[in-house]
Amino acid sequence: MQLTPFPVTPVKQSRLSQVDFDDLGFGTIFSDHMFSMRYEAGAWTNPQILPYQALALEPGVAMLHYGQTVFDGYKAFRGLDGVARIFRPDMNAQRLHQSCQRLCIPIMDAGELCDIMIQATRQLIELDHAWLPSQWGHSLYVRPLVIGTESTLEVRAADSYCFIIMTSPVGSYFNNLQKGVSLYVEDRFTRAASIGGLGTAKTAANYAASLLPGFKSRQQGFDQVLWLDGNEHRYVEEVGAMNIFFKIDGKVVTPPLGGSILPGVVRNSVIALLKDWGLLLEERPIAIDEVVEALHSGSLEEMFGAGTAAVICPVASIGFKGELFEVANTPPGELTLRLYDELTGIQYGKLEDRHGWNVQVPIP
Ligand code: COI
Repeated sequence: MQLTPFPVTPVKQSRLSQVDFDDLGFGTIFSDHMFSMRYEAGAWTNPQILPYQALALEPGVAMLHYGQTVFDGYKAFRGLDGVARIFRPDMNAQRLHQSCQRLCIPIMDAGELCDIMIQATRQLIELDHAWLPSQWGHSLYVRPLVIGTESTLEVRAADSYCFIIMTSPVGSYFNNLQKGVSLYVEDRFTRAASIGGLGTAKTAANYAASLLPGFKSRQQGFDQVLWLDGNEHRYVEEVGAMNIFFKIDGKVVTPPLGGSILPGVVRNSVIALLKDWGLLLEERPIAIDEVVEALHSGSLEEMFGAGTAAVICPVASIGFKGELFEVANTPPGELTLRLYDELTGIQYGKLEDRHGWNVQVPIP
């Protein structure tokens, strides 16, 4: 349902002239406007578009201490035809809804949340259309964020919240389609508990848990951590910034969404494309020993990650228990490249959007 437009307070002076669109990086530049809504006295109120600005928070706000915060991420692409396309925001709204429920945030129903997010994103794109990058591979990253704002040191859900949607012109997260990334297989630290934890929610705690292992893996020369399950450190889970896929002996394998893995929107899209193409896909637990064996025998044909920020990213090598394994046929393998081309083709409006994934916004 399209809602009536939210009230807008425009910026007095745009910051656009300070942006170097040839050097965007990821997530360090924020567009002129943001969406804001508050939860007070038991109701969500005051949805509006404001200049991007600092939030005033007391140091006693419980969220800063106990982490009652969730976020999500999706992208809008400037099409070759002058239309902006938001990629699958309904999926992100659903996931944000689930994350809110897991973190005890009193969110409205999922349909209403989805309508609000799409309407807010439309307006932000219309207002800040000049911030939408035009270079292929670049996009406007949309980051919804919900935080508890009550000042209390009691450990319980807050009674007030702030919901922000900000946008950021970005390049790709890894920018490594040609070279691929190297992953350190983490067999000591855990990203998320196997049963009953926070793994499926997009919440700060999972990312906080990844900081030290990520730092250590970079010290050893790796780009990212490949997480194993929290119980036995035996089964492959995900890469934090992306879900993981293997092509072994002609079959594509990805770990199932068992409660500790983030249900990625690009993961879901990759699975849909593989099904469209009639390729064999197995969603099943995959032990790291099976991956190592496939690397040894040469049957591991391709390995890639899939994520909103990361897009489709080939894995060139993995480090496990002191050994470095090169993945054959990368980067990028034939399937990896096909998926990258199909996905980005749909996102930029170059290829047919068979599944109706895009929400189109005419650029003024
Ligand atoms: C995304 O892909 O949207 C993510 O949230 C990954 C991020 C932590 C950079």
